[in-house]
Amino acid sequence: MALLEERLSAFPRVDLLGGVTPIQQLVGLSEAVGREIFVKRDDTAPLALAFGGNKLRKLEYLAADALRMGADTLVTAGAIQSNHVRQTAAIAAHLGMRCEAVLTVPPGLAKIDHFASGNRFLMNLLGVSCEFSQSLDSIDVQLEGLAARVKSVGRRPYVVPVGGSSPVGVMGYLRGGIELGKQVAAMGIDLSAIVLASGSGGTHCGIAMSLAQCLPSTQVVGITVSCGVQEQARKVSDLAVRTGGLLGMSELGAPRIELWDDYFAPGYGQCSADGIEAVRLVARTEGMLLDPVYTGKAMAGLLDGIERARFSNDGPILFLHTGGAPALFAYQGDILPAAA
Ligand SMILES: Cc1ncc(COP(=O)(O)O)c(C=O)c1O
Repeated sequence: MALLEERLSAFPRVDLLGGVTPIQQLVGLSEAVGREIFVKRDDTAPLALAFGGNKLRKLEYLAADALRMGADTLVTAGAIQSNHVRQTAAIAAHLGMRCEAVLTVPPGLAKIDHFASGNRFLMNLLGVSCEFSQSLDSIDVQLEGLAARVKSVGRRPYVVPVGGSSPVGVMGYLRGGIELGKQVAAMGIDLSAIVLASGSGGTHCGIAMSLAQCLPSTQVVGITVSCGVQEQARKVSDLAVRTGGLLGMSELGAPRIELWDDYFAPGYGQCSADGIEAVRLVARTEGMLLDPVYTGKAMAGLLDGIERARFSNDGPILFLHTGGAPALFAYQGDILPAAA
């Protein structure tokens, strides 16, 4: 753990959070489901730039890398309601850079609210310049194309990969995992499990790698939001190997990756009944806002995991709140149909 912290401190970082994110007990939800549940509020931070979220931790390292390379424009990609693009645009604005993005529309989501509201509205407000594409397939090639166009007009692009999930971005969640481990130790909680949404995989990867060092007996469960276990496991494991290599600590590159893929249907960005139920339950028992694409589905997995005794023991569970609430506005018709 000391070696990991030492290696991490060698990587440049811009402070975008302004301090640690709090851990709190979800008293109302715990009572409602009969199990002690805690949350780490990575949806918020002292600086709370543009409504915050998990990408800020990754961008602390990615933006520092961009500045070190003399970049003046962050180039990235995501879905039409991408929290990642919103946060990248906010950081670009905060650091006096520009932001250009490729946006895709997942199948079934070409609804007016998705183009005009939620994160899409915030992207416009933050001044990001967007191009549209049919799909995220070969997105690296599309990003290189956009970077080349930015370069051709005399600017200096830095490509932030989808979701900020490169080994440099994962440094943010290695740091986040160490922070979490210290908080849990100070609070004296004997955690059974940590549950989080696993998308582009960087958050899951960083938490699994760091917790293997500081809370080795705690189960880390990633709830997939876009694909099945095999595909997601490959994504997260490959990232862990490359991150271990970048740190010069290859022994860290094979953490245990546990994934549950029962909660992402009908597909990425499309609402599920149990995900919406989780969004409503947490809003009404805690006053805390989840989203239907990531955290609602992850919470649905946590609640079902309790119900079906899927966790390895009966101890407290910590939910990593990774943000995403701005998307609620684009999905409001799905979350609260007129009768609810
Ligand atoms: C709110 C929210 N939670 C979780 C995730 C998943 O994080 P990761 O892409 O690091 O797997 C995302 C990714 O966009 C997100 O926006």
